[in-house]
Amino acid sequence: MFDFRPAPDCPKPEAYRQLVDAADALTSSEADVVANMANIAALLWDFLPDLNWAGFYRMVDGELVLGPFVGRPACIRIPLGSGVCGAAAQNGETQLVEDVHAFPGHIACDAITNSELVVPVMRGGEVIAVIDLDSPSKARFDQDDRAGIERLAEILANRI
Ligand code: SME
Repeated sequence: MFDFRPAPDCPKPEAYRQLVDAADALTSSEADVVANMANIAALLWDFLPDLNWAGFYRMVDGELVLGPFVGRPACIRIPLGSGVCGAAAQNGETQLVEDVHAFPGHIACDAITNSELVVPVMRGGEVIAVIDLDSPSKARFDQDDRAGIERLAEILANRI
C-alpha cells in the first residue's frame, strides 16, 4: 500500500519535497512510461488540494496528445501554441495562469477550471511532455507550486 500524502499543516515547500521524493521512489525502478505517468498523475491528485484535473500531455509528431491523468475526460490533441498547454510546449516555459478566462486562446476542457499551471518536461533541450494542473479556484497556484512542479519535471525527464 502507498500513502504518500503530506500532513494537512505541512508547509508547501516541504510538501513539494515529499512529493518529489515520492515521485522518485515510484518511478526510479520502472521503465514503462505509461505506468510512471499514471502513478504521477495519481500522486499529484492525492497530494495537492483544490484541483479538478492533473496529468500529462505528451509531444507526439509535433503536437500535444493526451496522456495519463486524473479528472474529467479532456481534449485529446492540442496544437503547439494553442491554449495554455500549447504555449508551454511551444516556448518550453512554465505557464502560471491566475485566470484562464483572461488567457488568449485558453482551451476550456472543463468550464469549472479557473486557474492553471503547465510545466514542460524537457529532455535533451526538447519538450517531451507537459504536466498540467487545473483548479476551480482563481489564482490557485503560486511560485511554490511552480518551483515544486518544475523540480518534478526535472526528475521525470528520463522516466516518461
Ligand atoms: N486548458 C488547457 C487544455 C487542457 S485541459 O485543461 C486538461 C489549455 O488551455 O491548454
